[in-house]
Amino acid sequence: MQKKSRELLAILQDNEFHSGEEIGRQLKVTRAAVWKMIQTLQQTGFLITAISRRGYRLEQSFEFLSQQKILECLSDNLRKQIKLLEIFDVIDSTNTYLLQQIHNYATIPRVCIAEMQTEGRGRHNRKWYSPYAQNIYLSLLWRLPSHQISSHVIPLITALSIVEVIETLNLPGIIQLKWPNDVYFSGKKIAGVLVEMTMESNSHAQVIIGIGLNVNMRNTTDEINSWTSLYKILKKDLNRNSLIAALLERCIANLEVYQVKGFGYFQKKWHRYDLFLGKKVQLQCHDLMINGISHGVDHEGRLVIGTRKKKNSMFSVGEIL
Ligand code: BTN
Repeated sequence: MQKKSRELLAILQDNEFHSGEEIGRQLKVTRAAVWKMIQTLQQTGFLITAISRRGYRLEQSFEFLSQQKILECLSDNLRKQIKLLEIFDVIDSTNTYLLQQIHNYATIPRVCIAEMQTEGRGRHNRKWYSPYAQNIYLSLLWRLPSHQISSHVIPLITALSIVEVIETLNLPGIIQLKWPNDVYFSGKKIAGVLVEMTMESNSHAQVIIGIGLNVNMRNTTDEINSWTSLYKILKKDLNRNSLIAALLERCIANLEVYQVKGFGYFQKKWHRYDLFLGKKVQLQCHDLMINGISHGVDHEGRLVIGTRKKKNSMFSVGEIL
């Protein structure tokens, strides 16, 4: 997003009419250039009306990501605990950025958020659609003793934390979890988790927990037609700053519980939302294709599949197709 477009959005943020002339004067560009920028914002998904002789008006409540607002919503404890919270306007990927910062131990736990990602990454080398100022693209750098973790469990804990946050919004429908890391709402994907980690001298592991949550996105491209956003469900814009604070609270609280109690503590809760519990599944695990009935997850977060040949098999990696 160009700097001028951000400035334009800042002008329109008050939901009042602003003439092309007035905007042009403030941004030091021509009226034609203003019109072009308005069109770009509209294409991005912003609802802006243009009325001759009155100008342009943003028809939705909108707030930029703000460090101060996020910190204000955090508990005192977490505010003190988080060493660094950075917000970027545009970044390639918040996960990639934190991967580059992984050895900066003094600043862990550390959070990186962006208005837009140009190379947002999903699991299995997929792209994560990251349009400007609509959704949440958040990565948390966390460090924990390696004997306390099973890497495959962190995505499950994170997906559950997202569910706990969006549950508080009283959505009219069913929130579901698709093992290991997808959050669905009434059959459409609303959030995903990408966890990356490095081990260090057998004692500690640095974990980067990337969360993509579709918040105020109105338009979805064909590519992501099977997706939804909180706006699409609730028909209203939500405040991303307070949602980010809530996500951080839940994730960090759950990671701490997990470190003490293990995944067993979350098993029942997972089953409450499990999209495939008791259903036929096809799991792709490396080159293998496993068909069977899903029996949910075991106390270590592994997917349990009952196949014809063997009663139950457990999987800690793979993708349900
Ligand atoms: C998936 O469902 O495949 C996981 C998507 C994870 C997307 C988030 S957005 C913030 C962080 N940065 C990235 O590049 N990816 C994750």
